[in-house]
Amino acid sequence: MIAPWNFPAAMIARKVAPAIAVGCTVVIKPAALTPLSALALAKLADEAGIPAGVVNVLPTSEELTATVGETICRSPKVTALSFTGSTRVGKLLLSQCAGTVKKCSMELGGQAPFIVFPSADLDKAVAGLMASKFRNTGQTCVCSNNIMVHEDVHDQFVAKLVEAVKKELKFGDILNGATMGPMINQMGVDKVKRHLEDALEKGAKLEIGGGSLGGLYLEPTVVSNVSWESLCFKEETFGPLAAIGKFKEEETVIDFLNTSRVGLAGYFFSRDAGQVWRVAEALEVGMVGANTGMLSCCEAPFGGVKESGLGREGALIGSEEFLETKYICFADC
Ligand SMILES: *[C@@H]1O[C@H](CO)[C@@H](O)[C@H](O)[C@H]1NC(C)=O
Ligand SMILES: *[C@@H]1O[C@H](CO)[C@@H](O)[C@H](O)[C@H]1NC(C)=O
Repeated sequence: MIAPWNFPAAMIARKVAPAIAVGCTVVIKPAALTPLSALALAKLADEAGIPAGVVNVLPTSEELTATVGETICRSPKVTALSFTGSTRVGKLLLSQCAGTVKKCSMELGGQAPFIVFPSADLDKAVAGLMASKFRNTGQTCVCSNNIMVHEDVHDQFVAKLVEAVKKELKFGDILNGATMGPMINQMGVDKVKRHLEDALEKGAKLEIGGGSLGGLYLEPTVVSNVSWESLCFKEETFGPLAAIGKFKEEETVIDFLNTSRVGLAGYFFSRDAGQVWRVAEALEVGMVGANTGMLSCCEAPFGGVKESGLGREGALIGSEEFLETKYICFADC
């Protein structure tokens, strides 16, 4: 189980629990940047009475992480791989698993659409965007990325969003109500800055933020009137930049959003019941939030289509990733 840094406890719990429930032993390779949560979970597993050797943790340095990953993928002793991380690394691990024909489940990158239609309750849509865009400082695979607002409500939506950003987002002690933290590393900071500069160059308007607070701290940023040609609509930003594009026709915007090679989560706001069903079915993603910005829970299957991954985590279907079907035909015994 190769886990990422952005939810260092939850991602591991979601992989380990179904696997041990159906009788597997597991080796967890936590992200090099966040090994301590995995070690804490191993201690809790021990205290909970899980037999020694069932839950194992293999922390690595950043230098060795690729080698350890490759060793796991190529080992004939490992029967399945469960990975959460970037699409780029996922493809590499899949190719390394091909030699032993491993069962692989892959939770890879997304580029979640977030569409606001004219009939939407704009206050609820703003609340949904605040939750799905800025949670974990924008560093989640289900973060809203391709935000498209109908031209009739674009200006009103943007004004409400800017108010919410001013009022609700705070840096500081997270145990004391702060909602924003640092980016994980300089590469993450550079990508957000690149996406912002590119959007502004292509005619977007800076509504709030745009600055750096030093180190890995970026101001939460909103830009509006973003051109569909911008980089931020072609790649996952993975940071606190809400880039908002305008659209006119439902069909045109969905066709555009469906051109993405990834499809993990998608969100939209509309109070037109026919449209709710039509759009929920048309979006090429594995998970849809209709009139909500928070869709992940342990009872629901989590996962994507296209290059966002293979298989599902959570729900009953999540345990299928760790099971094989065997057919036995008894004749005359
Ligand atoms: C919006 O962006 C377009 C380019 O994509 C630009 O021509 C136009 O002037 C911009 N409009 C506003 C109101 O900023
Ligand atoms: C998504 O858009 C693509 C490209 O325009 C289109 O071919 C496809 O039919 C759409 N998907 C659905 C399920 O409507």
